[in-house]
Amino acid sequence: MADSTPPILVKHQDTKAFVVSLLEASGVPKKNAEVVAHGLVAADLRGVDSHGINRIPSYLARIRNNILDPKAEPTLTQVTPVVAQVDGHNGFGFPAAHLGMETAISMARTFGIGMVSVKHSNHFGMSAWIVQQAIDAGFMSLVFTNSSPALPVWGGKSQLMGVSPIACGAPGGENSIPFILDMAPSVAARGKIHKALRRGEKIPQGWALDENGRQTTDPAEALKGVMLPMGGPKGSALAIMMDVFSGVLSGSAFAGGVTGPYDMSKPGDVGHFFVAIKPDLFLSLEEFKERMDILYQKVVSSEKMEGVERILFPGELEQLTEKKRLKEGIPFVHAEVDALNKEAERLGVGKIWQSPS
Ligand SMILES: NC(=O)c1ccc[n+]([C@@H]2O[C@H](COP(=O)([O-])OP(=O)(O)OC[C@H]3O[C@@H](n4cnc5c(N)ncnc54)[C@H](O)[C@@H]3O)[C@@H](O)[C@H]2O)c1
Repeated sequence: MADSTPPILVKHQDTKAFVVSLLEASGVPKKNAEVVAHGLVAADLRGVDSHGINRIPSYLARIRNNILDPKAEPTLTQVTPVVAQVDGHNGFGFPAAHLGMETAISMARTFGIGMVSVKHSNHFGMSAWIVQQAIDAGFMSLVFTNSSPALPVWGGKSQLMGVSPIACGAPGGENSIPFILDMAPSVAARGKIHKALRRGEKIPQGWALDENGRQTTDPAEALKGVMLPMGGPKGSALAIMMDVFSGVLSGSAFAGGVTGPYDMSKPGDVGHFFVAIKPDLFLSLEEFKERMDILYQKVVSSEKMEGVERILFPGELEQLTEKKRLKEGIPFVHAEVDALNKEAERLGVGKIWQSPS
């Protein structure tokens, strides 16, 4: 049954401090704990609740099961002046990804472009926080990852490819917002099914099939079956693309070999692929920004189809949610708060929220 009581609003600073305290109590060095918390809270702020701090219990379970090393430090190998590789050493995916994008940006600052492959990593949550890292430094980016099997290839019926998000971005101009595309190649991200399960909600028709290949609106049945690719063979091809660039190229697991974040049997061995690009390679920065302003204005002022109130730029919906949540706090349902507080009790740290009574 869906929870009909009003959600609990928690300030983003408190949410982040809570996650850092759980992680530090689990042996994660403070610097890395801050990066994990930043990526998770960024998702909650942007309304990508499927990839926010509710992922923490499963991450902590991986540490307890000795399949994720909380103390691992990612290491860097420079391959050519514009290419580097990060080895995540089976630590959290967030610090490995952060180092990867930081390195790609630094190479792009000097040479115009920087490419980084990441191996032996783990789930890094919502891709957009890494795209935002590049935007904050003034760079365009590609952010790819592979993930555990959840999606059949076109024509197949069993899970083989990951619901691996394809993400990219570019800084905006003076009168536009940055472009941020961050999308799973499935009709919906699998995290949205986990979220529906946590919240006792149904999922829409057309998202997934149950284990017998039938359409289902029950999240528990959907998790036993397969996610449906968006756009048929095109979604399936994008999922394969993520595996080529992130898995095959890096030396990490691929072709169905990545272990899912909820599978406690073995390390994830996820691969990522990042490219940072200087936006003023072919035009001045001023011209680039003016052109982004024109593109933005043309998109959002496009003639609307019937029933549409407002046209949004990719990333804009999430930016609007972020503005609201920065002010009002992040909404969590009681079941989510209970699960997070249970982790706090187990680790002996302060709770995320306590009932005033
Ligand atoms: N790390 C992993 O393994 C993993 C796996 C799957 C998904 N994810 C994450 O899950 C998240 C959700 O993915 P999703 O595919 O469900 O995203 P989504 O369908 O909510 O959004 C996809 C894209 O469409 C844009 N968009 C949405 N509504 C819009 C509108 N009305 N107008 C204009 N643009 C609009 C969004 O800005 C976004 O760029 C992503 O952040 C992704 O990184 C992570």
